[in-house]
Amino acid sequence: MKKRNEIPDCKVTLIGDSGVGKSSIIGRYVTGIFMENDTSTAGANFTQKTFEKDGKKVRLNIWDTAGQEKYRALGQNFYKDSYIICIVYDVTSKQSFKDIKEIWYPDVQKYGEKYHIISIVGNKCDKYDVEEVTEEDAQSYAEEIKAKFFLVSALNGNGIDRMFQTLAEEFLDPDFKENIKSERELMNSFELKKDHFKKKKHHNKCC
Ligand code: GTP
Ligand code: MG
Repeated sequence: MKKRNEIPDCKVTLIGDSGVGKSSIIGRYVTGIFMENDTSTAGANFTQKTFEKDGKKVRLNIWDTAGQEKYRALGQNFYKDSYIICIVYDVTSKQSFKDIKEIWYPDVQKYGEKYHIISIVGNKCDKYDVEEVTEEDAQSYAEEIKAKFFLVSALNGNGIDRMFQTLAEEFLDPDFKENIKSERELMNSFELKKDHFKKKKHHNKCC
């Protein structure tokens, strides 16, 4: 049972191609600085940060998944119980945006649940001179899949706090909690019915 004053947990997962800047985005948000990073994430890393606004708090449990293809199946385990999924692309890489459409979002649909808050995140906005994905294209895709859209730069910090703030506020919105509750209740009743049916079948077989 939830204790009084207990801070709710919210699982946040970042996915996207290797090199788009997932670890750098998280590092910037959690520590406030950009660390030049040449090490690709292996498996997944976990960080926490508590977000607070107007006396309401949420503990963001942030999972940084590996974008490399060999780890892709591992990442799928994170989708199911993540309330927030950030699908990241690099604004200077057309391929990383194409992969959102062809790999990452289809994966989320396949392995995730309905009540995700999904966002499309274009990172490395500081490199606008070599941009390969236009804001219009990304924005219109986000609208198409009913996702939120953010343009950020882990390097100079632009948009990072605002992005996590918007997502955390959405999670704290009473409407979102209501939706999760009703969805969960529906799933639970479905599971119970399935269980009941299985037991009945089993019972019939034995006797
Ligand atoms: P994997 O762990 O392999 O999945 O990659 P990742 O998505 O975590 O990328 P990572 O954060 O390791 O960043 C990849 C490279 O991009 C590193 O050299 C970063 O320093 C650089 N980088 C990350 N964010 C930015 C940014 O906002 N601007 C610029 N210019 N470079 C960035
Ligand atoms: Mg990484």
